[in-house]
Amino acid sequence: MGSLVRVLPALVAAISCFTALAIDVPSPRNLNAYNNSAADGPYYEFLDYAPDLRDQGMDNSIKVVCGTGVWLLYDGYYYGVEKEGPALFANGYGCANYTNSYYYDKISSLRYAGSPNGFDNAYYNLYEGGGFTGNEFKGNKNAPDVSYLDMKVSSLITSGESPWTFFTGQNYTGEAKCVYPNVINSDGVTMHYYVAGSMQYYMGLADNSIRSVAKGCLSDNIIGHPH
Ligand SMILES: *[C@@H]1O[C@H](CO)[C@@H](O)[C@H](O)[C@H]1NC(C)=O
Ligand SMILES: *[C@@H]1O[C@H](CO)[C@@H](O)[C@H](O)[C@H]1NC(C)=O
Ligand SMILES: *[C@@H]1O[C@H](CO)[C@@H](O)[C@H](O)[C@H]1NC(C)=O
Repeated sequence: MGSLVRVLPALVAAISCFTALAIDVPSPRNLNAYNNSAADGPYYEFLDYAPDLRDQGMDNSIKVVCGTGVWLLYDGYYYGVEKEGPALFANGYGCANYTNSYYYDKISSLRYAGSPNGFDNAYYNLYEGGGFTGNEFKGNKNAPDVSYLDMKVSSLITSGESPWTFFTGQNYTGEAKCVYPNVINSDGVTMHYYVAGSMQYYMGLADNSIRSVAKGCLSDNIIGHPH
């Protein structure tokens, strides 16, 4: 395996601000992106959002990724679509080889879904665009309104073991859908998540209808089941 790990200066700065508080706390997730198909050459270790891979010298050059957590890899900058929706990487630990896929040498931005604080912590990400694109509103607790994404949510991801309930009214009113996550175990690491790339198909809710979010299962209208 390669050994060249380069870290974004801004990230180093951000990490050093936290060292006093977070010594020895490992990152809850990472994504090692390889520049060669055999995945034995240099790689870049991503720990955080990367809206423009030109900053890392990795634009249009990712061929294989290995890591942990839920990551979205986009062919456009700033989590946008140039031609195809993003590649979804979801692994306790694993690799994805894009060599013979559309995404080969096409990735221009990437970000993770889930809590910044802990692996498999309870969390939700709401996206303005279908297929996890564009602006997001995210959190780990109840939201009586979803602020700038009010009636603008077109896709979502939940993380962690907790179910979440999504409402079409503010203050937990209107039509509601409770979502239990799927569970995966890869390479001995267990992870929970639910991905809804579109509202109608995966949530049974109208597009652009979500207005509030609550932790837990607060509706009889249930998707999935407890594990
Ligand atoms: C990736 O490979 C390309 C083509 O060989 C090269 O131009 C680029 O500098 C490499 N990027 C990194 C981060 O190694
Ligand atoms: C990725 O796929 C290519 C083409 O099939 C193959 O040559 C390469 O060895 C694969 N890489 C890994 C790490 O499995
Ligand atoms: C939600 O509840 C808050 C606090 O009770 C209230 O101020 C607000 O008007 C409510 N919003 C709606 C849309 O009912």
